[in-house]
Amino acid sequence: MELSGKRIVLGVTGGIAAYKAAELVRLLGKAGAEVQVAMTEAATHFVTPVTYQALSGKPVFTDQWDARMPNAMAHIDLSRAADCIVVAPASADFLARVAHGLADDLLTTMVLARDCPLLVAPAMNRQMWENPATQRNATRLREDGVTLLGPACGEQACGETGAGRMLEPEEILEEVIAFFTPKLLAGRRVLMTAGPTFETIDAVRGITNLSSGRMGYALARAARRAGAAVTLVSGPVGLPLPQGVEGVAVTSARDMHAAVMARAGAADIFIGVAAVADYRVANAAGHKLKKDTGGVPPLELVENPDILAEVAALAKPPFCVGFAAESQNLEEYAQKKRHKKKIPLIAGNLIQEGFGGEDNRLVLFDDAGVHPLTPGPKAVLARQLVEHIAKLTGRN
Ligand code: PMT
Repeated sequence: MELSGKRIVLGVTGGIAAYKAAELVRLLGKAGAEVQVAMTEAATHFVTPVTYQALSGKPVFTDQWDARMPNAMAHIDLSRAADCIVVAPASADFLARVAHGLADDLLTTMVLARDCPLLVAPAMNRQMWENPATQRNATRLREDGVTLLGPACGEQACGETGAGRMLEPEEILEEVIAFFTPKLLAGRRVLMTAGPTFETIDAVRGITNLSSGRMGYALARAARRAGAAVTLVSGPVGLPLPQGVEGVAVTSARDMHAAVMARAGAADIFIGVAAVADYRVANAAGHKLKKDTGGVPPLELVENPDILAEVAALAKPPFCVGFAAESQNLEEYAQKKRHKKKIPLIAGNLIQEGFGGEDNRLVLFDDAGVHPLTPGPKAVLARQLVEHIAKLTGRN
């Protein structure tokens, strides 16, 4: 689990988004974190402490003079025990108080007394967020090393639309995980492909394959968490784009080829995870082929460009990583592909294990030899592959 062993103090301040903090407590706990909730008095008007207590399994603190702390030092004890403090929602008033170093309740006192990172997820009406005073406070907080998560733009509880919405709990979780991930690819630009391609036969039919996109999307997320700027060129899949990743949606191998070649020159690392169709239909019909026109329609196939091989052949190629899905002889076939495409690293997997599911078994092949990874969730394998790439590119 990504947050195993992490102790997080979740501060909740007064705002309607306090109800979403309940889900955040659950998600942080599911990701392995130990969560201690501390609320401002205003927050208790929106959600009672009992809700967070039930979800975190710990008593919630709201009062600096809480008798449960025998030394009357709740602000010190709670913040010293934490790996980070996350405040979500963070109201305009809370941001102002922290920006000015005030310590007039438990949460602000704890924040002032902390020796761990502070992440805040602002949530307020758009006018309050845009107010020069709030903007000044936000700038001051950034200068002080506080990480601001959002806010997002969108519909607000007050009925207005604009910037000031708190990030969704899943988005805050992703940012917290990214915050704790070592930045092995900091400053690197990673270009990737994922998913299947779809090669048109006629107006409603096509040739495709069973790639779900899961391996590639997990790798995009892992690279972004490791600090890379990630662009993901994806064939048609039913997955949400990982947070913070630039997405380019394509359909056919030729679309994917064009999208990749337009960006490859600016990339430091290229990773081809996509199951690209080797062939397309040369005589694709613009209309639906009719069955009763006599005989089986002849499909003439022509070869698609090999995207990975072309990127690797550029005058100044990025560090290229390929994937190979084989039904047998994994090492022999994967190594053959690596040498043919002239790439330094290829990740081999068996088609019965790699395609579709949540788990996979990867074996890495590079100049140093063969590196089998422990089979497991694609997210975990993706993290290990990122570590291997960082090592080969001199960043680990
Ligand atoms: O999406 P999932 O369901 O999670 O499944 C993941 C996966 C099994 C699709 C993935 O792990 C994987 O193995 N992808 C590569 C599939 C494959 O066998 O590719 P290939 O042998 O056809 O190609 C070898 C390499 O060249 C791949 O990096 C491929 O992206 C690239 N290639 C291939 C053909 C082509 N025209 N252009 C390419 O860039």
